[in-house]
Amino acid sequence: MVDLNETKQRDQWGSKIGFIMAAAGSAIGLGNLWKFPYMAGQNGGGAFVFVYFAILILVGFTLMLAEIIIGRNTQLSAVGAYKKLNAKWSWLGGIGVLAGFMILSFYSVVGGWTINYIVKSVTGGLASSDPAVLGGLFEQLIANPTEPIIYHALFMILTLGIVKGGISGGIEKATKILMPGLFIMMFIIMIRALTLNGAMAGVEFLLAPDFSKINGGVILAALGQVFFSLSLGMGTMITYGSYLSKNEDLVVSSISIPLLDTAIALLAGLTILPAVFAFGFDPGQGPGLLFVTLPAVFAQMPLGTLFALIFFVLVLFAALTSSISLLEVNVAYVVDEFNWDRKKATFVMSGLIFLVGVAASLSMGPWADINIIGGRNIFDSLDFVASNILLPLGGMFMCIFIGWIWGLENAIKEASNNGKLAFKLAPFWGFLVKWVAPIAIFIVFVQSSGILSLFGF
Ligand code: PHE
Repeated sequence: MVDLNETKQRDQWGSKIGFIMAAAGSAIGLGNLWKFPYMAGQNGGGAFVFVYFAILILVGFTLMLAEIIIGRNTQLSAVGAYKKLNAKWSWLGGIGVLAGFMILSFYSVVGGWTINYIVKSVTGGLASSDPAVLGGLFEQLIANPTEPIIYHALFMILTLGIVKGGISGGIEKATKILMPGLFIMMFIIMIRALTLNGAMAGVEFLLAPDFSKINGGVILAALGQVFFSLSLGMGTMITYGSYLSKNEDLVVSSISIPLLDTAIALLAGLTILPAVFAFGFDPGQGPGLLFVTLPAVFAQMPLGTLFALIFFVLVLFAALTSSISLLEVNVAYVVDEFNWDRKKATFVMSGLIFLVGVAASLSMGPWADINIIGGRNIFDSLDFVASNILLPLGGMFMCIFIGWIWGLENAIKEASNNGKLAFKLAPFWGFLVKWVAPIAIFIVFVQSSGILSLFGF
């Protein structure tokens, strides 16, 4: 058996709120704060948000419950869970491991940028609201051949340190304080951004969909973002669900986690995009959006430097509660498959992920000309393949597995605690898992020219 505490007796969450906090900790991270606003900025604003919500409702909630069900039923982490239910399907765990590996490699680079911005806010390096100055600062950092790699290493070391010791009570406790902290901070910063001159253009950009902007690329980007943001499609929620006791109400959890996650993404979007318009930044500028825009907002706030510091520390924490769940999927896999001890597995996997991350970091500077997939640099290619292809594929096959192989009856029995809890929406959920979600994902794949063009169409 593989889990975070394989040598001890299997742990369970201290409380229901403990599980929701930890699962929300995995879900809420750079995906919400850093990626959601810039993806919306690049993909038509409201059009992207509209599609995001449609996919969240049809696929997001459905798969969240599905993963938690598999986890609690098997009491095992991803690879072990599929093996136990049907050995022929253990490759599905493998897709998740690969996705987690690729995501963490570039995620850690962004985590490193966050640490650098903590340092910058302490040393006063961010005190400007001039787009050119702030843009220059960011470009200088990411294009540097060594500096971001040092910070990337630091982020990996932090992640490794937590995973090596097992996710103990400490993380669960800290999360309970820091997550609400993040929420409150985001709220205050949002109010400041919304009251800037010209901010309403950003609100309109984000919330008023221009349907003519919806195309295959936008839909694929939104699909990938739902999976990325909710930590779905690679077995993270299987692992976390495996620690739930048999009396918890899984349905309630699978609704609360996506709601919290979406609330934070919207807060971030409603902070960053209004500021983009108020200060005249470019909404489509990509991965730098958070790092360039928010310092400009802080510069307009009393005690702005302090706000910047607290904010970037909270971003770092949110990123770490996600990165540990990414590394854990990899570690659990090698411990399980190759019988390595946990320490060795953690070091070796972290080292390999770090190396791929180095390439991702260099692709923002010296290696910018190396294009891999559809004109994307290494960093964007890793993100594209993992988030937009591997995670949705993993989710699609999981639905097929539950709906057609393992059986909806088994899944619904688990969700209703053997009929003890009312699960009124069971037939509806079953229909979504068996038909709607897998077909919807399949159609997005076939429709989106991005994927087809990879194969030369
Ligand atoms: N959901 C995390 C975030 O938004 C990233 C993540 C993806 C974590 C997949 C685990 C699995 O930052």
